[in-house]
Amino acid sequence: MRICVASTLCVALAVCFIAGPAVGNETMIALSPDGRTAIQLEVLNGRAYYSVTREGRTIIDDSKLGFLFNEREPMNRGFTVLRVTERQVDESWEPVWGTDALIENRCHEVTATLVKRSGLTVDVTIRAYDDGVALRCFVPDQEGFRSFEMVSEETEFRLTGDHTTWWIPADFDSYEHIYRETRLAELEAVATPVTMRTEDGLYMSIHEANLTDYAGMTLRKASTALAFECDLVPWPDGIKVRGDAPLVTPWRTIQISDTPGGLIESHIIENLNEPCAMRDHSWIQPMKYVGIWWGMHIGKDTWHQGDNHGATSANTREMIDFAAEHGIGGVLVEGWNTGWSRWGSAGAFDYTTPYPDFDLEGLAAYAEEKGVALIGHHETGGDIPTYEERVEEAFALYERLGIRAVKTGYAGGIFPRGQHHHGQWMVRHYRSIVRKAAEHHIMLDVHEPIKPTGISRTWPNMMTREGVRGMEYNAWSDGNPPEHTTILPFTRMLAGPLDYTPGIFDLTFDGYKPNNRVHTTLAKQLALYVVLESPLQMAADLIENYENHSAFAFIRAVPCDWDETRVLDAAIGDHVTIVRRRGREWFLGSITDEEPRTLTFALDFLDHGVAYEATVYSDGHDADWLTNPLSHEIRTLTVDATDTLEIGLAAGGGQAVCFVPAAR
Ligand code: NOJ
Ligand code: CA
Repeated sequence: MRICVASTLCVALAVCFIAGPAVGNETMIALSPDGRTAIQLEVLNGRAYYSVTREGRTIIDDSKLGFLFNEREPMNRGFTVLRVTERQVDESWEPVWGTDALIENRCHEVTATLVKRSGLTVDVTIRAYDDGVALRCFVPDQEGFRSFEMVSEETEFRLTGDHTTWWIPADFDSYEHIYRETRLAELEAVATPVTMRTEDGLYMSIHEANLTDYAGMTLRKASTALAFECDLVPWPDGIKVRGDAPLVTPWRTIQISDTPGGLIESHIIENLNEPCAMRDHSWIQPMKYVGIWWGMHIGKDTWHQGDNHGATSANTREMIDFAAEHGIGGVLVEGWNTGWSRWGSAGAFDYTTPYPDFDLEGLAAYAEEKGVALIGHHETGGDIPTYEERVEEAFALYERLGIRAVKTGYAGGIFPRGQHHHGQWMVRHYRSIVRKAAEHHIMLDVHEPIKPTGISRTWPNMMTREGVRGMEYNAWSDGNPPEHTTILPFTRMLAGPLDYTPGIFDLTFDGYKPNNRVHTTLAKQLALYVVLESPLQMAADLIENYENHSAFAFIRAVPCDWDETRVLDAAIGDHVTIVRRRGREWFLGSITDEEPRTLTFALDFLDHGVAYEATVYSDGHDADWLTNPLSHEIRTLTVDATDTLEIGLAAGGGQAVCFVPAAR
């Protein structure tokens, strides 16, 4: 078990506080520990601006900061600098689960208190890390600012080149879109994380951290083609953020790296969240899971009752047996509770009453006896008032039955109408469910969620979430193109883990839906277990497709909680190869888009002087996602750190390798 450790070393340094030539014009600078990256805060003629440089080159030009309020004086001009403080943050902490066992949090932080003539103050904090910069604003509770209704956050991001950009459109209710690669100037309004490559090969990604009681941020084009401004998701009345003072914004973050892989290895988003809020988190356990799920999406089973009802006691027992036999930690059951045939009407879903053919108590006991976690499912259909009314009773029931994980869902428009999935009202809702779940020792997997912003550092029961166009789209739409999963690690996954639900072996499922399919090879499905991070990681296919399948050995073996992560090579939208370590074992996942390719890697990440048995799950020589997706080979090699591995990837293909120290 890992513990949350936080120790902050504050070192007093000379403040980078330069009096400007004009009265009241001042500049504050935070400089990264390696000295390469700087964020500068400037008050110029009463207005606050920030800018960012990397090795002296400006990558964010003077960008304004400020807020506009309903019936309250604006906080975007008339500022002078009242005082400046600074500190060095230098700590390391151990996450409860994640991609690395130990995380370093090192940055230089500068806080400037700006004051208006009226006496109102706002603190602007800037932070420079080796892997990016961040800023946040804090308006304290003060005379003249007890409560507020914000109509606009004015934060800008003025980029300095027409960068290659990977993005999905701003959508106040969904992130389930296919990523596009275009020039920056072609963007109108986008969700974050939005990721860019400059002409000279620098990588940047804009996102936010610690979204706690605020609206989600989207970006929309500002005054020039390369300038973007914050466009917060509104309440039904147009207000963006309301509340009582203090007003605390999430951190506005810009990850910066010389390589695409550096973006993945960065921990800046988690570092900008508070340490673990739980005293006892021993009950939080990452796991793989199977489920009564894919069958509904491909039309084999139904959520509602009837001849093909999926969530029967018999089917669930069979899944529990399968999980127990194969060392899979959990079994998700969707469609177990009443309400599915009334979806859309207020109060449809009941979270405590099982369908008559689902013996909730008996199955919970059976799962416990078999050492398998039953994962409950709460589809709200967006009916928030009903869920808030019923969730306490449901979590209490689950706790009593020993059910320690729940998948929640928010499919469809939010009720009350006019509220959005990504607005402040829902951010508050999602967070209240995380806290309530923690009180009942329940881990969460949230579908149709708010995007991750690192809060799992504080609330590690917030395990994983969708917020991505996941596997399900292959079951009932044009599907996800081969390129999709070569972009996700550099965009959506920078925010946090994703419940993509990999592991489909029957890639064409012709017996159910001949016109739909998964757009990968079988070996690529395996590689996704390493490439796409999730502490609850599904083996999504029907269990009969895993029975006696030799490739299932990889899914059995692969962990979903890691001690170390390294990106060996990547080109966003083309290919990516990641290795992750758990104990002394290493796992490699390599995936490509629709282009076949051969990649060669030094195995120098392995312990030197140790022989490893490498089990390689590769595309067959004739594999191709479109014409021959199932062709694969499994072979075993003995290798050591001085060897190189040549990886052949088919079109839409992948490769998964497991390296285990050889028995002496
Ligand atoms: C959409 C979710 O993404 C999916 O996983 C779930 O099965 C359905 N909603 C039904 O709740
Ligand atoms: Ca979904």
